[in-house]
Amino acid sequence: MVISVPNNLTLRPPRLCVKLNLSQSMTENLRIGVPSKGRLAEISTELLLEAGLRFRRQDRSLFARVKEMPIDVTFLRTDDIPILCAEGAIDLGITGADLVAESGVTLVERLTLGVGNCRLAVCVPEEGKIDSPKALANQRVATSFPNVTQGYLSKHGVVAHTVKLTGSVEVMIALGIADAIVDLVETGSTLAANRLRILDEIGRYETVLIQNPKTSHRALCDRVVRRLEGVVIARAYSLLEYNVPAKKLAEAEKITPGYNSPTVNRLEDANWCSVRAMVKRGEVIGIMEQLEALGATAILETAIANCRL
Ligand code: PRP
Repeated sequence: MVISVPNNLTLRPPRLCVKLNLSQSMTENLRIGVPSKGRLAEISTELLLEAGLRFRRQDRSLFARVKEMPIDVTFLRTDDIPILCAEGAIDLGITGADLVAESGVTLVERLTLGVGNCRLAVCVPEEGKIDSPKALANQRVATSFPNVTQGYLSKHGVVAHTVKLTGSVEVMIALGIADAIVDLVETGSTLAANRLRILDEIGRYETVLIQNPKTSHRALCDRVVRRLEGVVIARAYSLLEYNVPAKKLAEAEKITPGYNSPTVNRLEDANWCSVRAMVKRGEVIGIMEQLEALGATAILETAIANCRL
């Protein structure tokens, strides 16, 4: 395509040049791409800060330098992070595994971050005629995940018309644009509000840390992964301590096997032991009840701020 420019027009360098120069000056540093806005942006920033990567984003700047480490944090659109990581613009990225699946690019998934759990599901009207994947044949399916949807339809040997959208997919059946949708389901309240039901689940996803397979910062990537892993595990587990009669120790150890194995100490009274074990946070209350029923006493839960296991 030829673009003619009027003689009296002075061309200014596009803004992109400024950004490119800035990024070129940082090529020596490892780059971590994180979502620039929304809940995932907050989650990612919190996680990195807890892992000791100290940085401050100024206003709506696209970059922030990490203090005392050769790392730059780059703020990006969440759905661009998989492709930018695969292309090498960033070495590590935080994004949704659903977006990684949709992008179809080759990446290394280093860590699941224990947040953003959701399902991608085929949804249909509560009282509609579509009652199986096969019944999607020749129907209109609205989605922001056309590639994953196409893969699902092909797997079932179904040809349907995919309507590609970037949001508000859940209202498309009511608007008469689609007969079914493929959308993310978290609590299910959006489905209920739109009188839809799940026909089939395509996959379960959560927020992940991804890595460019060809990064030149392997050692530093590993260090960041270990730091984040410490925070993720610490958030998922509590430390449970209790005293239990020595004769009940074997049973208690079955209830609290720990992350690797529980720490057991003898008390001054030889008939009693003190046990310390990591327990999944969501299971603590039930486990406390089981231990109490076994005869354990002084059962204490302590939050773990960080860990290396
Ligand atoms: C997602 C998804 C659903 C909703 C599901 O939308 O597309 O609409 O969350 O959550 P629920 O099961 O808890 O109701 P999101 O808020 O991310 O915005 P979007 O509609 O622009 O995709």
